[in-house]
Amino acid sequence: MAFPSAPSALWSVSLLTVLFAAAVHSNVVYDDDPLQPMTSDETVSVGGTVTLTCRVAESDNSSLQWSNTAQQTLYFGEKRALRDNRIQLYRSTPTELSITIADVQLADEGEYTCSIFTMPVRTARATVTVLGVPGKPQISGFEKPVPEGDKVTLTCTSTGSKPPARLRWYRGDEELEGRPDVVEPVTDGPTYNVSSELTLTVSSSDDNAFITCAVDHPSLAPGDKRSEQALRVLFSPKVQIQPESDLPREGEKFSLRCLGDANPEPTSYRWEKKDGELPSLAKAEGAVLHFSMLNKSDNGVYLCNAGNGIGNGQGEYVLLVQDPTAMSTSSGVDHAVIGGVVAVIVFILLCLLIVLGRYLIRHKGTYLTHEAKGSDDAPDADTAIINAEGGHSGAEDKKEYFI
Ligand SMILES: *[C@@H]1O[C@H](CO)[C@@H](O)[C@H](O)[C@H]1NC(C)=O
Ligand SMILES: *[C@@H]1O[C@H](CO)[C@@H](O)[C@H](O)[C@H]1NC(C)=O
Ligand SMILES: *[C@@H]1O[C@H](CO)[C@@H](O)[C@H](O)[C@H]1NC(C)=O
Repeated sequence: MAFPSAPSALWSVSLLTVLFAAAVHSNVVYDDDPLQPMTSDETVSVGGTVTLTCRVAESDNSSLQWSNTAQQTLYFGEKRALRDNRIQLYRSTPTELSITIADVQLADEGEYTCSIFTMPVRTARATVTVLGVPGKPQISGFEKPVPEGDKVTLTCTSTGSKPPARLRWYRGDEELEGRPDVVEPVTDGPTYNVSSELTLTVSSSDDNAFITCAVDHPSLAPGDKRSEQALRVLFSPKVQIQPESDLPREGEKFSLRCLGDANPEPTSYRWEKKDGELPSLAKAEGAVLHFSMLNKSDNGVYLCNAGNGIGNGQGEYVLLVQDPTAMSTSSGVDHAVIGGVVAVIVFILLCLLIVLGRYLIRHKGTYLTHEAKGSDDAPDADTAIINAEGGHSGAEDKKEYFI
């Protein structure tokens, strides 16, 4: 009989091992055991509040207990065991023990245990994950305006995130491709400093443009933490010439203004006439070329050269002097168009008024007929309404008659 007893002893030992393992690894949940406590894992940001809930399906009035990551008891039923004002009782019933931890710190992360003191003791664990909230991103690398065509490298950094934050670059709504984030663990804690570099070749259109660095992190809503850097770009003038009027007439005075879009503003202007001298009655005063009296002999192409120390830009204007009696055609056309549009609007409004008027008259008639029909042979108000609704075809007949 010694032979069969050996395997059975082995059996019991392994069964015990399994039971012990099950008791230790209480993540094994007995769905069919109404006394098995149930918990859930939680994620919370630093400074936030987390609620730990432990429930059993049925109670035999055994006490429930929560203990922390260091196996110190926090609450035993309603009784507080650890002096920490951040930890409060949320709810205690025979089937539930819930507690809250406020102002959560990174050190609060770990496994919390809920136990119920049945025979044997049953336990369940809840893992609390604490998110390190990234700091506001800081952009560096731009100190002074740079000439058009130069490269600018911006660096964005955000400190203290856990898990590491992701940094994104934008110019307006357009996302830009930066270099991959550099993630550095902070020496005295579980958080990370993250940085990203963006290199741009700037053009004149980047002058006054805003480059944004935004932090992407599970502890933040999109756009919560971002920083902006305005770019200043030095570029040579882009020149346009603006005439004083669209109708230069012979014998009248006239002027041309040289507009140079540049950073910095243009400092010098030079006026020229293509294939010839400037007319004797034309006088250049900085950005403006004055004609004291126009003459058809002034016709030609006028050039303005503007410089700002970065470079020069040139614009041109073709002057075509009109007869002294010439009339502006463009404004006449404008008046005709406006007159036409007003006439059409007034016509449409009149039509609408007529249609609306007829519609109102017809419907007033229908309403009167309805009222009369419903109350005709009804003993009370309710019946009158029912009659009115039911006898719709009758009302229809009457309406025709009324019109
Ligand atoms: C639990 O306690 C309540 C009151 O203290 C009692 O009425 C109830 O019978 C108890 N239940 C069990 C299962 O012991
Ligand atoms: C992370 O950033 C903090 C705050 O700026 C700084 O004090 C610390 O030295 C940085 N740590 C690393 C590893 O870069
Ligand atoms: C325009 O100039 C010509 C000669 O240059 C002159 O004869 C003429 O009278 C001028 N016309 C006007 C309107 O001044």
